[in-house]
Amino acid sequence: MSHILAIDQGTTSSRAILFDTALNVIDTAQEEFPQHFPHSGWVEHDPADIWDTTLRSCRAMARKVGDGGIAAIGITNQRETTLLWDRATGKPLHRAIVWQDRRTADTCARLRDAGHEDIVRARTGLLLDPYFSATKLAWLLDNIEGARARAEAGELAFGTVDSYLIWQLTEGRVHATDATNAARTMLCDITTGDWDSEICALLEIPMSVLPEIRDCAADFGTTTLLGGKIPILGVAGDQQAATMGQACFRPGMVKSTYGTGCFALVNTGDRMVHSENRLLSTVAYRLNGRTTYALEGSIFIAGAVVQWLRDGLGLIETAAQTQPMAEKADPEQAVYLVPAFTGLGAPYWDPDARGAIFGLTRGTGPNEVARAALESVGYQTRDLMEAMAADMGRDGNSGSGEVLRVDGGMTASDWTMQFLADILGAEVDRPRVLETTALGAAWLAGMQAGLCPGPDGFAETWALDQRFKPQMAEERRDVLYAGWKDAVRRTLSG
Ligand code: G3P
Repeated sequence: MSHILAIDQGTTSSRAILFDTALNVIDTAQEEFPQHFPHSGWVEHDPADIWDTTLRSCRAMARKVGDGGIAAIGITNQRETTLLWDRATGKPLHRAIVWQDRRTADTCARLRDAGHEDIVRARTGLLLDPYFSATKLAWLLDNIEGARARAEAGELAFGTVDSYLIWQLTEGRVHATDATNAARTMLCDITTGDWDSEICALLEIPMSVLPEIRDCAADFGTTTLLGGKIPILGVAGDQQAATMGQACFRPGMVKSTYGTGCFALVNTGDRMVHSENRLLSTVAYRLNGRTTYALEGSIFIAGAVVQWLRDGLGLIETAAQTQPMAEKADPEQAVYLVPAFTGLGAPYWDPDARGAIFGLTRGTGPNEVARAALESVGYQTRDLMEAMAADMGRDGNSGSGEVLRVDGGMTASDWTMQFLADILGAEVDRPRVLETTALGAAWLAGMQAGLCPGPDGFAETWALDQRFKPQMAEERRDVLYAGWKDAVRRTLSG
């Protein structure tokens, strides 16, 4: 019994990562799955794809260690993505509506016009945006024939991806979620940690569909699908898992993860800080019944912009090609790519904006476009850090004033990380372990199993790979960033 299995069910792939009890990565299995775009701004996943790719990845890892080789499972997942299934058969009633999906923009606008944003912000810490699960769930109940009546009769179960995986792994025995995933539904009062009956009533969501909310390190049942009986002992949304994996346990510590999107979280301690700058208040983690809060800046497109260069434009074959292209790009060309493919998240919150490229000339080629794509990630992070700095009452561009800890696929690119440090005018730390999301989930499960230390002991194991220091002259940084702000202004829908 010497391993911990982390499941990282993300937006574009499902992964199973095997750790030893010292939290070293031993092996990984990963499978991508199809994305469905039935209409402009709609994004769906087939629940069978989510489950099958997860199970196959887990089984590949379980085979490596044999029966009894896994002591505990930790789950981390794409957040907000919404599923509804039949409690009797476990069969989903519809494809999962993915966090990027904007179909409920009108519903959100109506609720905002009717004056409901204040209560939503005060209790859930979120803004009225289609990003979150609540209006997606209401859409399912409104649009699937008979669903609302069946939900009222207690026949249906709602869940974010964590709940769905727990249900599948426990073969319907457990319908639960953790405090971080619940915080992203827009149905949870994060000041109390319970579902909010008033917001549920507002959206006509019967509370019987909701899962039970548990701590991040807790008993989420056992699975017998991977050989033997394995307990699920840790659950957290992927960005919160990365916050823990980066050991951001002290108030003021900030991390930014570059996956499909980019999500920066600053720990605000046991205080829920209300943003004046259109950031979200959220739960960083809940351990032993104690909630630690965070301010979050969410960007919808980061790594996905590189994926678009590859799959949409056919400009590259692999993500790694972007770095040499950016290095070769003409430094005099001010090309800006605003990747508002699914609207813009923080701090603009414009679901109707769509992507644009500015500054094209006859001399612009693939290299300049690739560089603009990588730079868009730095510029968007600066937008978030400015908002965080304003909310945390500090000057400067470095958010909370602490060094920014980064992780996720894109951080492998030195060029992108140097540009990030340059455009922020702040230091950026890349840790040795880049699997921070999975690490956070594995740590939760390992700690609950009594195999791993608590937060302080775990924080001591965080190790630096490289610190990127700003090298760009302040004047150039200001000119470049002003160009970005102008490009965003021209992209906004209103
Ligand atoms: O809020 C959405 C987020 O959890 C998705 O993360 O890693 O799939 O970009 P990722």
